[in-house]
Parts: sequence; C-alpha cells; structure tokens
Amino acid sequence: MTEEPGGQRDGNAPGRGTRLDIVTIFPEYLDPLGVSLVGKARAAGLLDVRVHDLRAWAHDRHHTVDDTPYGGGPGMVMKPEPWGEALDAVLASGPEPPDRPPVLVVPTPSGRPFTQQVAHELAAEPWLIFTPARYEGIDRRVVEHYGARLEVRELSIGDYVLAGGEAPVLVMVEAVARLLPGVLGNAQSHRDDSFAPGPMAGLLEGPVYTKPPEWRGRGVPEVLVSGHHGRIARWRRDEALRRTSGTRPDLIEGADPAAFDKHDRATLSALGWRPGPDGRFGRPSADVEE
Ligand code: ADE
Repeated sequence: MTEEPGGQRDGNAPGRGTRLDIVTIFPEYLDPLGVSLVGKARAAGLLDVRVHDLRAWAHDRHHTVDDTPYGGGPGMVMKPEPWGEALDAVLASGPEPPDRPPVLVVPTPSGRPFTQQVAHELAAEPWLIFTPARYEGIDRRVVEHYGARLEVRELSIGDYVLAGGEAPVLVMVEAVARLLPGVLGNAQSHRDDSFAPGPMAGLLEGPVYTKPPEWRGRGVPEVLVSGHHGRIARWRRDEALRRTSGTRPDLIEGADPAAFDKHDRATLSALGWRPGPDGRFGRPSADVEE
C-alpha cells in the first residue's frame, strides 16, 4: 500500500473515485483501510487511497523526522523539510492542471471539532490529503506554507489527546467514505443517522431491534411490528427526543425550535423541557425522570 517518491502522475483521474492521500511515519497503522466498508469502496473503485511513508522523504541515515522544540519544553516536533518534500510530491502526482486543488486535513487536538457536518463537506471534495502527526505536532510553518495555496482544515475528533493522528484519520476516512455515493447500498441508509442533516437533524438515533421477537424474556416494542408506518415514524422520533434529552441535552438546547412540531413539543414537555422567551427549549429542573 505504501508508495515511494516519484510515483507517476495519475491522481484524481475520473472514474477512480475520491482520492485520499495519507502521509505518515506508520503506514501499517492505516492497514484497516483495506477491510470492511472502506476496503470494499476501494475495491469498487469508489475510493482511491494512497498511503505514503514520510520517512521516504527524510534523507539522513536514520530517516529523522523530528527534532527538539525551539523555546525548550518536553517532547519533539516534526521537522518541516520531510513534510514539505512529501506534500510537494503528493501534490505533483495529481492531475495537471488540477481539476480542483486538494484539501489538506491536519488532525490535531487543537483543531476545530470534526462533526457529521464536516464529514459531509469533506465527502464533497474530490481529493483529500491527510497529515497525521506524532510527537508534539508538525512545525507550524508547514501549515502556514500550504495554507497559502490550499484549503487547510485542522480537525480534532474529540477533547482528548491521542499519541498520534493516525487513529483520527481512520475515524475521519470512515465517516467520509460511508457518505460517498454508492458506498452504502441504500441511498436512504444515513437518513436517520445521529447528526445527519434532514428531518431528524440534531437528534440522536433511538434504539433498534431485530429478530427474534423475544430474547431472554424481552420482547420488542409493539409499534414496530404493527406495520403502521406513521405510528412507527412517530415512535422513532419520540425515542430520538427521549435519548437526546437524556444523553445530549445540549443538542435540545441548541436546536432551532422550528424543527419541533406539535407532537415533539408535547414529548419534550413530558420530558421536562419548556420553551424560553426566545422559543428555544430549556429544562428548568434538570432532575426530571427520563
Ligand atoms: N491527535 C492527537 N489527538 C487528536 C485528536 N483528539 N484529534 C485529532 N488529532 C489528534
């Protein structure tokens, strides 16, 4: 899967699908991109994933990619030269002239939150280049240099610090890949996802059930086997409201009140929510039964 410098100029060709380049010192960390949904999307030609070993562009005997930080302090910083050479080579392997320049995705705990909305935005791009860093991060001049030529998105997958950006790349690639046309069999598959845009926007997906109808003494909610589509949709929405109220009240507080119909309002009221002066919902007492 790893490519050395000097690969031929064939990137982003029509019919090869969305192109993803990942530059890393641990190419094997990205091996999971060969299995499951992403692996199948690659095999189907919907995704063109290229993993590059950063050390191929570190020319000393030890292929050094890090050095001590200016100003002192713990840890090491990734040197700009290997990143510059690697990114220049990846950029040069794209089509000439470029159809549309790639977006540079820089995983970092200091970045903006990676959300479903961002996943949709990235899924609309034909070419993404990921730069997962190790150590204390990459010399700032790299982001500044490429930021002058390309769109750079510094993104965090959550408020915790990992040992490197490779796991965040796996997370982001999977979230983006499943949004690409043709990757999930059914175009409706992500309609009810938690965080998906559309009718359930801003609500978490409620519980799901499958056969058998009884398991260890537990049945499934009667409405789901009623065959009554209207009642099922209403039940699902109530469950989504209930779950969101319980686990992510911030999403209810931040929701556009126009998103709630009369029945939603009754459900929210039963959960202890009240519209405030601006119409947005708040919960006067947080100790309400779920
Ligand atoms: N690198 C280390 N921690 C990270 C995080 N939470 N998100 C993105 N990149 C990271």
